[in-house]
Amino acid sequence: MGKNTLYIETYGCQMNEYDSDRIINAIDGETTNDPKKADLIIINTCAIREKADQKALSSLGRFKHLKSNNPDLIVGISGCVAQLYGEKLLKRMPYLDFVLGPRAIPKLPELITEIKQKRSRPVETSFDIEELFEIVPYHEEGKITAFVSVQQGCNKKCAYCIVPTVRGAEVNRPLEDIIRETVYLLSKGVKEITLIGQTVNSWKYEGYKFADLLRALGEIDTLERIRFTTSYPRDITKKMVEAMADVDKVCHHLHLPVQSGSDKVLKLMNRTYTTKWYLESIAKLKEAMPDIAISTDIIVGFPGETEDDFEETLALMNEVEFESSYSFKYSPRPGTVGEELYNSSEKIEDDVASERLSRLQNLQKELTQSKNNERIGESERVLVEDFSKNDPDFLMGRTTHNRIVNFAGKKDLIGKLVNVKINEGLANSLRGEVFN
Ligand code: 5AD
Repeated sequence: MGKNTLYIETYGCQMNEYDSDRIINAIDGETTNDPKKADLIIINTCAIREKADQKALSSLGRFKHLKSNNPDLIVGISGCVAQLYGEKLLKRMPYLDFVLGPRAIPKLPELITEIKQKRSRPVETSFDIEELFEIVPYHEEGKITAFVSVQQGCNKKCAYCIVPTVRGAEVNRPLEDIIRETVYLLSKGVKEITLIGQTVNSWKYEGYKFADLLRALGEIDTLERIRFTTSYPRDITKKMVEAMADVDKVCHHLHLPVQSGSDKVLKLMNRTYTTKWYLESIAKLKEAMPDIAISTDIIVGFPGETEDDFEETLALMNEVEFESSYSFKYSPRPGTVGEELYNSSEKIEDDVASERLSRLQNLQKELTQSKNNERIGESERVLVEDFSKNDPDFLMGRTTHNRIVNFAGKKDLIGKLVNVKINEGLANSLRGEVFN
């Protein structure tokens, strides 16, 4: 069986980026950026909102014509949309060769062999794959940062969310596995890892809790920085806060999705905490780490959200002063409780949701700009990641608070921690000068 030349396109979250890198390692072969040169095309999809899911499906259509030139070409769909629609996708797209759910990546090599031998069209969407964490991701030579998955799936029951349906129940990765992957990445020159999981701070394994994981990773000498995402508010514990404050390598940034500032809406969303609870958690974090930066996710227009509820969200944003936020209009997802509410009289019209979203995003712009302005004149420890996107004479790195900083510098600083004096605060980044 010949080697494969893979073209892969990725939609969605960090978990999907990670999974795409696992797919690269799972297949025997190399990657290409040109679909015309590929003999294996995989679209790794996201189902979180309807738009994302449509985008992924329409992108598949682009590869249909390549099949008439190359009958041996294999085109597959993976990820959350694959899991969600399964078999139906084969009917809808006659040129599609396989459907692979996010938990079934270890089965990919078998699937490809089977397709080549029998020209069959397999659908692999089972959840109970034993080798769940066995395939580690491909790591690009020279990259300073890397993701390390610590868990698959999700046990929460948020009313809007499709993730538990498409990624299954929470399965936590053994501590030794996480350490092993981290040590491997460090041997490749990585300096910073981001632990990823749907509710990363609910991680537990054989008596160890998330705080123990942070402390264990903190012991690894050559590791400079530890980040993690995404945390679930109810899973913040005293021990976690203490570990974040004690372990110097842990960055002082927490992504903590609040979703809404209205207790009524939080209840409808089944988020299991109140705004009071959320604000108290932030207070505890700030007490332990006065400089900590908090970012969040917010959904507007969830069924039942009134103008007053929405204004409570704006008020909470002002109170917490989020560094940044990702915000979305609610999108009903098949089979969720939210979808039932959406199909009732509680539905929020699209123009109302759009208007709320733009008000919210304007407020966030102001908050982010004023946070960035506050840094002017300050010095920041920056881990240099790469050249700046737009200017090869500039480098880019991040502060402990996850702010992007651009500054003049040469290649040899990449991978190093440097001191940068900030002299400008832009809309989404800072500028400064190295002053070591
Ligand atoms: N509609 C809109 N936004 C959603 N999110 C999750 N599900 C939906 C949905 N159905 C948002 C949440 C989550 C982020 C990853 O995506 O804010 O934190």
